[in-house]
Amino acid sequence: MKKILHIDSSVRRTDQTTESYNSISKAFGRYFIDSWMSKNHQYKVIYRDLGLNPPEFISQEWIAAAFMPEQQRGEKQALVLAQSDLYFEEVAQADVILITAPMYNYGMPAVLKAWFDQIMRVGKTFTFDLARGDFPIEPVLSGKTLVLLTSSGEFGFGAGGVREHMNHLSPHIKELTKYLGVDQFYEIGSEYQEFADDRHTASVEKAKQDIVDLVKQIG
Ligand SMILES: Cc1cc2nc3c(=O)[nH]c(=O)nc-3n(C[C@H](O)[C@H](O)[C@H](O)COP(=O)(O)O)c2cc1C
Repeated sequence: MKKILHIDSSVRRTDQTTESYNSISKAFGRYFIDSWMSKNHQYKVIYRDLGLNPPEFISQEWIAAAFMPEQQRGEKQALVLAQSDLYFEEVAQADVILITAPMYNYGMPAVLKAWFDQIMRVGKTFTFDLARGDFPIEPVLSGKTLVLLTSSGEFGFGAGGVREHMNHLSPHIKELTKYLGVDQFYEIGSEYQEFADDRHTASVEKAKQDIVDLVKQIG
């Protein structure tokens, strides 16, 4: 059975009675999954809400364990790498990865960065070989599709926009996802949340339409 890995990263929930307090990026994620599943019943969804269940930060012990040859690792190292191994397996098994992300301080939420830090593993996610010269790192996985759904409070973060140079959210994620084996990357987002005006309403509606169109195209 094919698999979608659905990762949410907003710290906001979706069940608050005041509608405007609810996470927009998580709502986009659900909208995508509903559209996708109505077309592709054969997919299994694996879901993680990193906002509500944050990954551990990597540590000195984590790095020591990750760089130790597998056959030399003991119980202590296995324990330190348990979360990393679990997250990695979920990525390795996924055909489609859906990441939803708010813009926090012009970049990704810390919980999402912590998730990437847990997954990027020498010998598992990438290989490192100085024989390759100045670009010694290569991904191990391949053939995956990634959909990134975002929400931001300000606007103009897209190509040619007034804040394009301040967008450290999607370019960073796009760069990292190469190491998750992603060769098809799609991005949809809404802007203007902080203005709460017609531009925001229009931006959210457009993002939802773009999600439906994307599912038609790749689903
Ligand atoms: C801690 C925090 C930092 C934020 N930083 C930015 C920012 O740098 N740029 C921006 O355009 N919006 C920023 N925002 C606004 C969010 O991107 C916006 O509220 C978005 O809708 C949050 O996603 P969510 O609705 O899925 O929770 C920030 C919001 C929070 C809570």
